[in-house]
Amino acid sequence: MGEIDLTKPTNLLPRLRRGLGAGATEALEVVLRLAEEEGRALYLVGGGVRDLALRRGQVDVDVVGEGQVLSLAQKVAAVLGGRWVEHRAFGTVTVEGQGFRLDLAMARAERYAQPGALPKVRPASIGEDLARRDFTINAMALALCGRQSGQLLDPFDGMGDIARRVVRVLHERSFIDDATRILRAVRYETRFSFSIEEETLALLKRDLAYLDTISGARVRHELLRLLAEDRPEKGLLRCQELGVLAAIHRALRFDDELATAFRRARRAGRASPQPELYLGLLGTRLSPADAEAVTLRLALSKRQRQALEAAAALAQLLPWLSRPDVRPSQVVERLEPYPLSAVDACALLTSRSTAREKLRHYLENWYYVKPSLDGRALERLGVVRGPGMRGVLRLLKTARLDGEARSRQDEVELVQGVLAGKVELPGAESSD
Ligand code: CTP
Repeated sequence: MGEIDLTKPTNLLPRLRRGLGAGATEALEVVLRLAEEEGRALYLVGGGVRDLALRRGQVDVDVVGEGQVLSLAQKVAAVLGGRWVEHRAFGTVTVEGQGFRLDLAMARAERYAQPGALPKVRPASIGEDLARRDFTINAMALALCGRQSGQLLDPFDGMGDIARRVVRVLHERSFIDDATRILRAVRYETRFSFSIEEETLALLKRDLAYLDTISGARVRHELLRLLAEDRPEKGLLRCQELGVLAAIHRALRFDDELATAFRRARRAGRASPQPELYLGLLGTRLSPADAEAVTLRLALSKRQRQALEAAAALAQLLPWLSRPDVRPSQVVERLEPYPLSAVDACALLTSRSTAREKLRHYLENWYYVKPSLDGRALERLGVVRGPGMRGVLRLLKTARLDGEARSRQDEVELVQGVLAGKVELPGAESSD
């Protein structure tokens, strides 16, 4: 993380310019020139100002202007040969082109008709726009042009809170209006190694139940953003401590052993960018029925659901996998229906060494084992296509996995044994 720097806020504008790539610099110059021509002010807002103050690398260029921004965005796109997309419900327009992406938004005020509902918005001043935001560190604006160019608007002392390294809400109904902010507070705390300020923390705990007012898609979105942080285990431990996970679903939990498995996953280079492995790890702590309920609560996608639910089912197999008499072919038969990410999650987690070894062998080797003889080779030996042939192929795979056939010749002999009635084909044998 960059050093916290509280040199004069007027330094932020040159710092913004220095930090942008060539494409983004040109786009910013064009938008500012056009805005000056129209005699209107534009501001950099939200995370971008905070990240400039924190000297954190890449800054998102989120620009706000008072009044409509569509025609300005269209002009910018025309000058730069870029594309624009309007998100009318939010009063925002994205302009994209060679090496830049610019989000232009109309300054707005929000009113929450009910807790957790998407707010009703109306055009407003920049001051009102800042006042609708989540935390003081995100409620600053840097004037980019016009009379105030280079000045920082910081009505809630966001700079002070950056210096104090705290995450603080602007008013006491903030989490009630939008309980996704509970997860966001933990995410910023985690990312910047800040602390949630004392009163904010009390409000957060008071308002945990409002997470119920948030749709599955929105909770999932914020949870996945937490999982995408560099060290998500830190945030999840904090969520556990504060009761956030239980407020999302009573069975969701996180612990030190899972945190270790998260770190192990990253060291092995398997965790990014897909969240499935992390979700799988969370799934190992759930019963299959609870995993299904969590899937519903978070409105998970198909892949995410499979990762979570398969890991929950697999975790139930761990005692069986710990038995020394379980053969590789039995392991393969049991594990094959599950996605590899779920097997991986269980392997990263389990402290039962016999089970872990089997899972590792499965992932690195057994999963890929095939007999040398294929259908055609079997036909040449006199096996007729159909269910019988499938049985023979299964027998050969089992023999390979369990070390009973080590060469093509061993397989040929097994097949000949079957044809001569000396070797029995496996039936629907139970693997317990
Ligand atoms: N915001 C808010 N309440 C929310 C979500 C967003 O007030 N529930 C405001 C904040 O001012 C935030 C800005 O909208 O800075 C942009 O939202 P987002 O992109 O989610 O936040 P960033 O701070 O840009 O997040 P990140 O740094 O993780 O991209």
